[in-house]
Amino acid sequence: MRTHHCNELRESDIGKTVTLIGWVNSARDQGGVIFIDLRDREGVTQCVFRSEVSKEAADVSHTLRVEDVVQISGKVEARLKTDEVDTTNSKLATGTIEIVAETLNIVNKAEVLPFQLDKELSNEDLRMKYRYLDLRRPRMSKNIRQRAVITSAARRYLDESGFFEVETPILSNPTPEGARDFLVPSRLNPGRFYALPQAPQQYKQLMMVAGLEKYFQIARCFRDEDLRADRQPEFTQIDIEASFVGQEDIIKLVEGLLVSMFKAGLGIDVPTPFPRMTYRDAEDIYGSDKPDTRYDMKITDLGDVFAATEFKIFRSIIDGGGVVRAINAKGFAGITTGQMNRLNEIAVQAGLPVKNLAFIKLENGEYKSPLWKIFTDSEKEAVVAKLGLAEGDIVFFAAGKRESVSTILGRVRVEIADMMGLVKDSTAYNFLWVVDFPLLAHDEESGHWVAVHHPFTRPNPDDIAKLEAGEYADVRAVAYDVVLNGYELGGGSIRIHEKDLQAKMFTVLGVDAEEQQIKFGHILDAFRFGAPPHGGLALGLDRIAMLVAGEDSIREVIAFPKNNKGADLMASSPCQIDFKQLREVYVQSTYKDPKTAPAAEKAPQA
Ligand code: AMO
Repeated sequence: MRTHHCNELRESDIGKTVTLIGWVNSARDQGGVIFIDLRDREGVTQCVFRSEVSKEAADVSHTLRVEDVVQISGKVEARLKTDEVDTTNSKLATGTIEIVAETLNIVNKAEVLPFQLDKELSNEDLRMKYRYLDLRRPRMSKNIRQRAVITSAARRYLDESGFFEVETPILSNPTPEGARDFLVPSRLNPGRFYALPQAPQQYKQLMMVAGLEKYFQIARCFRDEDLRADRQPEFTQIDIEASFVGQEDIIKLVEGLLVSMFKAGLGIDVPTPFPRMTYRDAEDIYGSDKPDTRYDMKITDLGDVFAATEFKIFRSIIDGGGVVRAINAKGFAGITTGQMNRLNEIAVQAGLPVKNLAFIKLENGEYKSPLWKIFTDSEKEAVVAKLGLAEGDIVFFAAGKRESVSTILGRVRVEIADMMGLVKDSTAYNFLWVVDFPLLAHDEESGHWVAVHHPFTRPNPDDIAKLEAGEYADVRAVAYDVVLNGYELGGGSIRIHEKDLQAKMFTVLGVDAEEQQIKFGHILDAFRFGAPPHGGLALGLDRIAMLVAGEDSIREVIAFPKNNKGADLMASSPCQIDFKQLREVYVQSTYKDPKTAPAAEKAPQA
């Protein structure tokens, strides 16, 4: 259908007869002569229709509309360039030539599009409804292409490192990765359900027991959880597992993998090794387990400043084992009321028990703060010195339990950085390993201990005694996350490979022996037959593609994403299933649409 793509022809091709096919990107009538920019996935070429060359083609060219699919044959000619007139286009790779059309074949006409492709569109729903048109826009086609490039670099790197790509089941069992499962009813097994994998975790470990030694998969994962800009209900992991490895081996492998992906996607050389930080430091200093280290604004502990304070609120918090901490937003004393309200809102969402964040600001040589009258002179001096509080600065305080203070100040820090535009260099890539995660966390609501990563994570050998003694809060895991610019790109761990330790772990997590057999019997059994030591990690491919593309939502790098209610507006999914189809899989819906339910079934009025 074509001799060349629309980005290929140059002055060296002048005189050749060529055939191009693609979409009409734009059409211009200049004194009765039609010029079109013809576009295919590779680029754009200008075509001109002159009636002295082909009257028939020139006549038909007047009917062309943007996005018609056309096939054009003609001669490559130089564009006019004299001292008086210059019709070349230095922005186009093909900008010095044009095709003088001899034949025009309208392959398929396009109706008027619901939106223009050359303008940014803020109506997200419209974009999603016509996603196939949205994807024609240059920004989107670049993103999809770049994603393919980095995926292929990842495959190549892992392949060259001796990893086998293996597919694992999509119809499987619930996996304990922390989200809700998507369920699929089984027609052949009435009353039973598959769960779509939240991650191929158990299968990849079983492949290590099978002796594969090095596995990877570009794995589709499914999690029914609240959606955010960096979360979709179905997403893709670069999932990796290897035998006879330790944490250092996985870290080195993954650094190489990310270097190769960023080289392929952006042509940049990411320096290695990546810096490392313990989970404790990340939480204490940045208030996050995925700190954005492109800006400073670190959290400062004021425990020593207020050790002997008589300020009642701080006194009772410190006596109760809590902390008093603060951040200094340098030069932000001019914060607007709207911004202050937003910070208070974020702090409250993060767990601040009162309505407003306590602050001190220094403006025109004057300290302004509700706290200033309360602090003693030595406390004031120490606060100013410790936080480096200078003219134009504003310091925000939080006091309470260590974890909760970290969360509050961590979220406030990120928001302030956004408000102040602290990230000046959009090409800064601050990779970071966060290591020494805790193995377990206490879930206040259920009163149970839960796995911070997942139940297959290995306890740090130095902390086994604490695990045995039931000092769960102090047990570290051999687990590591790789972080980039405040996003968690991936997480992994060295695994438990001994049956007894795995069973002990399940017990700590409140899974009794009977349930262990039902849910995890296959893993416990497998560990009886010579399981090798092993470990791995999974990277979020969508998040990497998003950061490579410089986007701030993974929806921009997924061809057909879901909206924030988990719906695909183009295909109208999820959809209703008729009674007959549900009956075939032995499912009956208990959902009652409040709009159509009989009055008696409607929720009682307050
Ligand atoms: P984890 O749950 O940390 O680990 O997931 C690994 C990475 O997957 C990405 N990710 C997501 N991306 C988009 N939308 C989501 N809903 C979503 N959830 C997770 C993140 C995350 O870092 N089995 C373990 C890995 C292992 O231990 O080897 C696991 O799945 O980038």
